Amino acid sequence: MIIRKFGPQDLKRVFEIENMSFDQSYGINMFKQLYDMGVGFLVAEKDGYVIGYVIFWIKYENQGHIISIAVDKNYRRLGAGTHLLVKAISILSLLDLDTIYLEVNENNPGAVEFYKTFNFKVDRVVPNYYENGAGAIVMYLKLEHGKIPTK
Ligand SMILES: CC(C)(COP(=O)(O)OP(=O)(O)OC[C@H]1O[C@@H](n2cnc3c(N)ncnc32)[C@H](O)[C@@H]1OP(=O)(O)O)[C@@H](O)C(=O)NCCC(=O)NCCS
Repeated sequence: MIIRKFGPQDLKRVFEIENMSFDQSYGINMFKQLYDMGVGFLVAEKDGYVIGYVIFWIKYENQGHIISIAVDKNYRRLGAGTHLLVKAISILSLLDLDTIYLEVNENNPGAVEFYKTFNFKVDRVVPNYYENGAGAIVMYLKLEHGKIPTK
């Protein structure tokens, strides 16, 4: 498995993975716009086939933010999510940030467990965060300056 930069040729496949992973979709145009904006955008590829992606950026001056991460249903629990998040965190760690934040749907305990393996902690719950009324669990990872966190 390799982790590489997203390119426009991956758009359709990333959209497919997003669709099978979330009730609510950013939509293909939003992916294109995020890419054009220059956010961090990586894909995991296995035998030439894209099986997952992660999108991240810097929110405010000192906070990293994981916008979205998903792995194809048929390739979960094989370490792809870990490879993607390790790479995203190590890139963000180079940027002198204090914290990495993300939001998880409160009805997604599997993802909360996944983030906990990286030592992300629960910060708070934001009610009605998603369109369908579900709340978001906000999680954070404190970064030590100049040090790349290990799992
Ligand atoms: C969350 C997600 C990205 C994890 O990707 P993955 O490739 O399956 O994750 P990994 O194989 O690297 O998992 C690493 C560890 O995280 C934990 N973990 C991952 N998925 C889990 C789940 N559903 N339930 C409990 N623990 C889980 C386990 O400890 C796992 O190690 P193990 O398989 O040895 O037990 C994937 O499940 C996914 O795409 N889910 C749908 C989209 C989503 O929820 N994204 C996050 C939204 S904020």
